[in-house]
Amino acid sequence: MGRVQDKVVLITGAARGQGRAHALRLAEEGADIIAVDICADIGSVGYALARTEDLDETADGVKKFGRRVVTATADVRDPAALRAAVAAGVAELGHLDAVIAQAGIAPLGSTQGAQAFLDAVTVDFNGVVHAVDAALPHLPDGGAIIATGSLAALAPATTDNPALGPGGLGYSFAKRTVASFVHDLATVLAPRRIRVNAIHPTNCNTAMLNSEPMYRAFRPDLDAPTREDALATFPAMTAMGNPYVEPEDVAEAALFLISDAARHITGMQMRVDSGGYLIKRPQLPTF
Ligand SMILES: NC(=O)c1ccc[n+]([C@@H]2O[C@H](COP(=O)([O-])OP(=O)(O)OC[C@H]3O[C@@H](n4cnc5c(N)ncnc54)[C@H](O)[C@@H]3O)[C@@H](O)[C@H]2O)c1
Repeated sequence: MGRVQDKVVLITGAARGQGRAHALRLAEEGADIIAVDICADIGSVGYALARTEDLDETADGVKKFGRRVVTATADVRDPAALRAAVAAGVAELGHLDAVIAQAGIAPLGSTQGAQAFLDAVTVDFNGVVHAVDAALPHLPDGGAIIATGSLAALAPATTDNPALGPGGLGYSFAKRTVASFVHDLATVLAPRRIRVNAIHPTNCNTAMLNSEPMYRAFRPDLDAPTREDALATFPAMTAMGNPYVEPEDVAEAALFLISDAARHITGMQMRVDSGGYLIKRPQLPTF
C-alpha cells in the first residue's frame, strides 16, 4: 500500500517543475492524477511556459509507476475550462480526493506594466480559486486541498521590491492573498474535514527560477546576468546557505499533507524554505 493509495489528485501546472514532481511522487505512492497545464506562453512573462510535450512527459512518468493519468490543456484563468478538465478526469478515474493548485507565473521586470500585475494576480491567485471551485463539487468529506504560495507571501521586500516592477508586486499580492485564502477556506471546510493547507517554497530549482527575469532580479547590478552570476546570490533566500530547494523536496511536503498521516492538519502555512522565512521576516508571524 502506498501512502496515498488509490486517491485521485488534481494538479494544476503539472507539465513540469514542481507540478511534475508532485505528480510523480504521488503516483509512486499509489495515486492517479488529473494533470492540467496551459502549455502555452503568457505575453507578460519573460520566459517560456510549458509545452504539450512537457505535459506528455509528466503523464508518461505517472504511467511508469503503474498509475492512471488524465491530462488537459487548460488555463487556470478560465473557470469553465478547468471545470471541464476536472469533470473529464473524474469521469475516467472515478472520483477526486485532493487538489494541488500550484500553476504559477512570475512576470518580474516585465515591460507590460499593469498587464503584468493583472496576469500575476489572475494566474497566481484567481487560478487557485478556480481550481478549488472546479474541484469542490467532487471532493468527499475528508478530502485535501493544497495551494502553493511562496516565501514572497510571508516576507515583504522580496518580489514586491519596486525594482521588479508591477509584475513582481502582483506576484507578492497574489501569494499573500493565497495564504489568507487558505487560512479562511480551511475554517469554512473544517466541518466537512476537508483540509486546506499552503506550501510556501523558497527558491526552487525549476524553469521559473532558472530564467532571465529571475537572474536580473537577483543581479540588478549586471546588464546581462547569467545563471552563474545569479547562483552566487541565491543563498540569500535561505538560512541554511543552499541556493534553492529541489521540486522533489516540495513534493514530499505535498505527499504528507495529502496522506492520511496529516488528517488533523489544516490551515497550515507550511514553509519548504531552508529557513528563508527566519531571516527574511521583519515582524511576528501573522498566521
Ligand atoms: N521556482 C521557484 O523559485 C518558486 C518559489 C516559490 C514559489 N513558487 C511557486 O511554485 C509553483 C510552481 O512553479 P515552478 O517553480 O514549478 O515553475 P514552472 O514555471 O516550472 O512551472 C509552472 C507551471 O505552471 C504552468 N502554468 C503557468 N500559467 C498557467 C496557467 N495560466 N494555467 C495553467 N498552467 C499554467 C506552466 O506552464 C508550468 O508548467 C508556482 O505557483 C510558483 O509561483 C516557485
